[in-house]
Amino acid sequence: MIIIAFLPFLLTKIGKECLSGQYPPTPDRILPTYVINLDAPPIERWKDVAARYKTELTDLLAYLKTFLMEISPELQYLITLIDTKLPEMADTLPAPYGDEMKGISQASGLPLGEVVLYNIFYEVSSLCTSVVGQDENGNIFHGRNLDFGGPFGWDKINHTWGLTEKLRPLMVQINYTQNGQVLFKTTTFLGFIGSLTGIKPGVFSVSINERNVVKGGYIGLIEWIYNINRNQSFITFAIRDMLTKSESYDQTLKYLAEEPLLAPCFYIVAGTKAGEGAIITRSRIGSDDIKVLGKDNLWFIAQTNYDNWKKQPIFDDRLTPCIECMKTKGKNQVAFDSLFDVLSSRPMLNKETVYTSLMQPATGRFEGYWQYCRDEDASCRPW
Ligand SMILES: *[C@@H]1O[C@H](CO)[C@@H](O)[C@H](O)[C@H]1NC(C)=O
Ligand SMILES: *[C@@H]1O[C@H](CO)[C@@H](O)[C@H](O)[C@H]1NC(C)=O
Ligand SMILES: *[C@@H]1O[C@H](CO)[C@@H](O)[C@H](O)[C@H]1NC(C)=O
Repeated sequence: MIIIAFLPFLLTKIGKECLSGQYPPTPDRILPTYVINLDAPPIERWKDVAARYKTELTDLLAYLKTFLMEISPELQYLITLIDTKLPEMADTLPAPYGDEMKGISQASGLPLGEVVLYNIFYEVSSLCTSVVGQDENGNIFHGRNLDFGGPFGWDKINHTWGLTEKLRPLMVQINYTQNGQVLFKTTTFLGFIGSLTGIKPGVFSVSINERNVVKGGYIGLIEWIYNINRNQSFITFAIRDMLTKSESYDQTLKYLAEEPLLAPCFYIVAGTKAGEGAIITRSRIGSDDIKVLGKDNLWFIAQTNYDNWKKQPIFDDRLTPCIECMKTKGKNQVAFDSLFDVLSSRPMLNKETVYTSLMQPATGRFEGYWQYCRDEDASCRPW
């Protein structure tokens, strides 16, 4: 239904561009960074930041509950569980996640069931573009756009997605520290404790893109909630587990390729040495495909939300323009500025895009910026 509604719009305005000179964006677009001390007890870790973001979190959750009820009947079952199954669910999650959620609930004043809902919601919805590129000297760079919030609650006046706009004020970078050192860094929505984008300096970087498979996320979640099968990982906790524990690119790749998961997804992993880049196409039980950097002379690999070896859907092909734009930039230009240019170009940049992260695992360099697609500059696609 939503697709039909937007079809005339899309057919008239399928804008493609390949911008230059977008990097660095103005300083007001740099995401704020907070420190989470892993040596503190999980229940204490998020206390200060969760209290600070209380208003934004409350606002988002109120919106999320409304739109789930009104727009997505399929997800309504989650709402009915907020006061019953979801608070209990915190105790079924692997450590330290349940206690961290309890701490966030206490500090923000949000009911625990709502904090759990927020944290499991990604298992069922979002879009993205990720790119890993290698320059002529074998240096690896990893860039990603996070697109989130559509297709729910289109604001006809402002031409924005309601949920997307509620998420923007929550976007932050986190330095996770241990023994006073930064162990890993992530970009996230405050209060969301799994990882969608992260780097372990000197080891690897990783991003996750949703894989659009009909009812993919629901089944695993239902199996977890009703204790039918809890021998599977949440897709964003699997990333955080690797950022915490993994000591190598290979170990990360193997785990993310093999660990049973609650939902299908794409994992995009980059390492520190030439050839260390891969897109893992995940089903719940294993990998359907692993596309590796360097093979067949690939100097970059790109992924959106559809299987990369198949024809992309006509209503949402961000992959072909992304590939064309990367090729225009060329192999001798793989760096933060060119990746940022590509990810700031329409339609990789669209109305759902909330941030771009840039990562270089070898040096630990990690930057995150707010992104906005503004119709004043050129027409934007809704996704
Ligand atoms: C986060 O870690 C980086 C080093 O990786 C450091 O430069 C930055 O200052 C840290 N940010 C905060 C807020 O501590
Ligand atoms: C549209 O944007 C304006 C300014 O950002 C805001 O005040 C207004 O609430 C928005 N409209 C809706 C319907 O959200
Ligand atoms: C749980 O999954 C692991 C693989 O991660 C497997 O080795 C183990 O046998 C599974 N256990 C059960 C009870 O299914």
